[in-house]
Amino acid sequence: MTRSIRPLVAGNWKMNGLKADLAIAAEVAKGYDAALKRGVDIAICPPATLLFTTSATLIGTRIATGGQDCSTQGSGAFTGELSAAMLADAGASFCIVGHSERRTLHGESNATVKAKAEAAQKALLVPIVCVGETKGEREAGKALAIVEEQLRGSIPEGSTAGTLVVAYEPVWAIGTGLTPTAADVAEMHAAIRTELGLLIGKAAAAGVRLLYGGSVKPSNAAELMNVAHVDGALVGGASLKAEEFLAIARACNG
Ligand code: 13P
Repeated sequence: MTRSIRPLVAGNWKMNGLKADLAIAAEVAKGYDAALKRGVDIAICPPATLLFTTSATLIGTRIATGGQDCSTQGSGAFTGELSAAMLADAGASFCIVGHSERRTLHGESNATVKAKAEAAQKALLVPIVCVGETKGEREAGKALAIVEEQLRGSIPEGSTAGTLVVAYEPVWAIGTGLTPTAADVAEMHAAIRTELGLLIGKAAAAGVRLLYGGSVKPSNAAELMNVAHVDGALVGGASLKAEEFLAIARACNG
């Protein structure tokens, strides 16, 4: 953790969740007790169909919501797309952009991710910009270079600690049960902080929340969250189980 930074634990529900699953959000809210509230921010990023109702369910709880993607465009003839303003209108405070599943399955380039992050900021959403290397890139010793290149291409100029979150998600760790060693996470997060300093200035970079994502579970959360420059988690599978998600949040509160 970075002592001066309030951690954020964000749940990415991905393409999971029907109305009945609002109960998960309600259960998370119930467990977000005073002790946890003092030390950790929580956000839930449900599928867009549930964003409005999840936000309504969470009014008054101090749990934020977020979208999982947004259009680069503000409005108009873009069938199937959702603008950042629409997500904000549905109650979101955050928007994940550049998740590896979008980069890979939808061919999103760094330039697209940057345009989405800018669109999010314009709508006063905080983009959670995802970066991370593939297994092959790590094995080839290119993990740092790849992530630095993604940051250079994806981070809007002028971002500040309050208008940007970065999530490091090694592609090979997502949904696999595999995680990098604490030493590898430490090396990567320090490099991300340094690169951000070059891009947006050292003072701004010092306050940006850097999340780790990829197979975070209650059993490994404490170790991962204790790594320097890890300021929270972006949680996939475990965010669909309220008790597991809360346990991860509690690991950030230590
Ligand atoms: P898992 O926690 O299921 O590995 O997913 C991580 C992720 O992709 C969050 O965005």
